[in-house]
Amino acid sequence: IFARLIALLVGYLFGNFQTGYLYGKSKGIDIRKHGSGNAGTTNTLRTLGVKAGLITFLGDSFKAIIAILIIKYVFRNQYPDAIKILEMYAGFGTVLGHNFPFYLGFKGGKGIACTGGVILAVCPLAAILCLVVFVSIVAITRYVSLGSIVMVSVFLIQVIIFNHFGIIGLDSKEMNLILEFDIIAACFTCMGIWRHKANIVRLLSGNENKFLMSKK
Ligand code: G3P
Repeated sequence: IFARLIALLVGYLFGNFQTGYLYGKSKGIDIRKHGSGNAGTTNTLRTLGVKAGLITFLGDSFKAIIAILIIKYVFRNQYPDAIKILEMYAGFGTVLGHNFPFYLGFKGGKGIACTGGVILAVCPLAAILCLVVFVSIVAITRYVSLGSIVMVSVFLIQVIIFNHFGIIGLDSKEMNLILEFDIIAACFTCMGIWRHKANIVRLLSGNENKFLMSKK
């Protein structure tokens, strides 16, 4: 429990590094007052352009990867069997920190770039299909939100299948660890979908912002 809390906390602190918000501030704007109001890659790209979007994406995904690598390095000898679980906690901590940054009144982003970083760092095999699904949906529909929602769902399905076949690296005899890993993956998915609830309402009413075009 102690190591899990430490992993969550370290992740949360890293997650607070709000790349889009800080980049916006350096340009004299609060990104949360523009476009969709979200402090993430899509809205930074929409509001401040490609360079800003790329920097935000890299910053937000790398903070998750860095937090995970730190936890892996610190705990790998102490908890070799549970290290993948601890990496997931660190990753989920970054999503919490990104979505609910304490110094910004807990108003942050939707955690998709962070989740992408976590998938790449903890379960790189799942990253391939996630990326293909995300890019295809955005290319076809022009809805980044829809791509994000489907991507976090595809991640969970892959985790459950991969764990079933022992591909993620957990000891297949340790059913508790496998179940715990699946549950944390489900937390990423639920959080991702829940943070998109306003997008879902707009998607259903046909009012969602298309890629690089903003109505609200
Ligand atoms: O990652 C966030 C994206 O899925 C939606 O962003 O700004 O259109 O709400 P936004």
